[in-house]
Amino acid sequence: MGQSKKAERFTSSGFILAAIGSSVGLGNMWKFPYITGLYGGAAFFLLFIVCLILVGLPVLLAEMTIGRGGRGNAASSFYNLTGNKQWKWFGFMSVVTAFLIISYYGVVAGWTLQYTVDSVIGSLGKGTNFDQHFIDFAAGGWPVFWQLVVMIVCGIIVGKGISGGIEKFNKILIPGFLIILLVLMVRALTLPGAAEGVDFFLKPDFSVLTGESALIALGHAFFSLSLGMGCMLTYGSYVQKEQSLGKATVAIGVGDLGYALIAGLIIFPTIFSYGIEPQKGVGLAFMALPASFSQMPLGSLFGGLFFLLLAIAALTSAVSILEVPVAYAMHYWKWSRRKAAAIIAAVSFLLGVPAGLSVAGPLSGWTPFGKSIFDWFDFTTAYVLMPLGGLAVTLFTGYAWKRAGEEAGLTGFWYRAWMFCLRYVAPLLILAVLLYSIFVKPV
Ligand code: PHE
Repeated sequence: MGQSKKAERFTSSGFILAAIGSSVGLGNMWKFPYITGLYGGAAFFLLFIVCLILVGLPVLLAEMTIGRGGRGNAASSFYNLTGNKQWKWFGFMSVVTAFLIISYYGVVAGWTLQYTVDSVIGSLGKGTNFDQHFIDFAAGGWPVFWQLVVMIVCGIIVGKGISGGIEKFNKILIPGFLIILLVLMVRALTLPGAAEGVDFFLKPDFSVLTGESALIALGHAFFSLSLGMGCMLTYGSYVQKEQSLGKATVAIGVGDLGYALIAGLIIFPTIFSYGIEPQKGVGLAFMALPASFSQMPLGSLFGGLFFLLLAIAALTSAVSILEVPVAYAMHYWKWSRRKAAAIIAAVSFLLGVPAGLSVAGPLSGWTPFGKSIFDWFDFTTAYVLMPLGGLAVTLFTGYAWKRAGEEAGLTGFWYRAWMFCLRYVAPLLILAVLLYSIFVKPV
């Protein structure tokens, strides 16, 4: 292995930008606000930060270290490092997880494109029934069209390769994205009544937390940092030896949390200012925000910018998800990058169609075991497969592979703290939360 990848190395800033591009996405802007609204506001936010620090960051560093040390993909890296084939299932599980995530992720990314267009042409601002606007849109054929657009764009970017595609893409888009967000945040914070939203988001009331809040917070730490499915591991394999992975971990963690914080500071003041419930669920961003934008001066401009940056953030993440099965297919099936990207994007698109049609479309009435297909894709990945994948990474790095510290460049206190999290804290938390969700609160 390896020869074909010689040219595929990130520059150091390119790697950080690509990794932040992967972690910052719909998870921060669409999912984080609605689960924060549902599972405990500020107290949930704190729980999420705890999970991010105690589990997310140690696993993130471990994944990048395995990837760089093993110089392979989600399956081969483990083998390259220990000569032990039994970790192969992690690679296989990663590919399955990636397929499932991209399937519904592509759907939501498609929604953002439609909403960008709607905002710009002003059709979101007409009427008052924004909930219905979303439902009508989701029930029609357009989501499938936009999902197709997303998958074609992703396929092209991934097909062009690491330096030609992802790196250039992120270098331009990520900083632009931050600027637009900051403008929107200032706008939101200066709305009348914004303080109530800030309180909801930042003043914790621990009595509202439930066991489920912990499951969701932990699962979201994985989802938001793109962990437990080989994504950061695959990116790690493209990193140069000289790069400090510890610093990269901190930068990615700060970036991801920073974007979530900004997203919260846009969405909660806005919805409180317009008297919209924070418990709207999956549709929070797509139902409440257009309503708010429509009542603001220059609303269609702000709305258009918001959904455009959501689409951009979603694309940079989707690209990184697609990279996992593509790297796998190139390695195991010896496909060319182009062929792998084209075929895998096409299959993911097909897999995602039923997920998209189950939100409000023809399949929405079908809820096997109490969840729509869309919700099953989300639940299986974020709250089961990713934590399980994360568990494998902690056990591998904490117990099976003896030279992780050396590869990560950690010694002394930080090495011991890292190992303590990987050996005890993270596995126990992951197990506790998984067992809780299986036995105490069956789905
Ligand atoms: N982290 C991305 C987000 O927050 C989603 C993602 C999950 C990306 C898994 C890659 C891998 O939107």
